[in-house]
Amino acid sequence: MELVDVHKVYRVGETRVHALRGVSLRLRRGDFAAVMGPSGSGKSTLLNIIGLLDVPTRGKVLLLGRDVSRLGDRARARLRNRFIGFVFQQFNLVNRLTVYENIELPLIPRGVPRRERRRLVLWALLEAEGDPSWLAKKPLQLSGGQQQRVAIARAIVGKPRLLLADEPTGALDRATAARIARLFIQLNREEDLTILMVTHDPELANCADTIYRIRDGRIVAREEPRRERCIAFTTGSDASPPEGREEP
Ligand SMILES: Nc1ncnc2c1ncn2[C@@H]1O[C@H](COP(=O)(O)OP(=O)(O)OP(=O)(O)O)[C@@H](O)[C@H]1O
Ligand SMILES: [Mg+2]
Repeated sequence: MELVDVHKVYRVGETRVHALRGVSLRLRRGDFAAVMGPSGSGKSTLLNIIGLLDVPTRGKVLLLGRDVSRLGDRARARLRNRFIGFVFQQFNLVNRLTVYENIELPLIPRGVPRRERRRLVLWALLEAEGDPSWLAKKPLQLSGGQQQRVAIARAIVGKPRLLLADEPTGALDRATAARIARLFIQLNREEDLTILMVTHDPELANCADTIYRIRDGRIVAREEPRRERCIAFTTGSDASPPEGREEP
């Protein structure tokens, strides 16, 4: 996935908000990147454009070498369903559906048989540190942190090639956040899943291979993380040190 000089201007009545001011970024298969920056700096806007939920005002979005920024809504939705899993900042669960039906949603347009859907939903929920007792409930019957784990399950259930996550641990306690970080690391390594996550948490950002800093709609720095300060290795009873390092 590649962005070339992407600008985004929102128009609200008479006012215009320049949310992105020339962002260029390339994600290769198997990359694991984090985006950090102040509130209002354009992080969610960037994720929405990479996730094909929104289109740039100017610039290009290339998916597998093909410009997808001018495709219609339906074509973008099809690509999104096939390739991309999205964890929204506000979860975006469908409140009239059960947790089971929410997680199952991405599998429906693909015609996955019911038995296989059931297996995948359970797998995704358990991977996302969820509990099967939630399956028959409605999202609003769950806590914020539980809803966030359902949102993560829904994002991974379709085995996407690209996982986009906006503050994926924002509602979680440290121990659960650490387990989610371990899940992301595992999916990145074992499934070659490309991940881009937005976070305010330096300990989560340090789990990525690259950290992008965004400010006022521009990427202002690209940094190496300090992997030994990744929450997956610093928090939780089952924490283990990164490869090649001794436990302190
Ligand atoms: N749909 C919209 N309509 C109008 N303005 C918007 C819209 N979405 C975002 N903006 C504006 O664009 C700018 C960037 O917003 P964005 O949501 O991308 O920030 P963010 O970095 O994700 O912030 P946060 O950390 O608070 O989530 C802000 O000034 C915001 O007010
Ligand atoms: Mg945001």
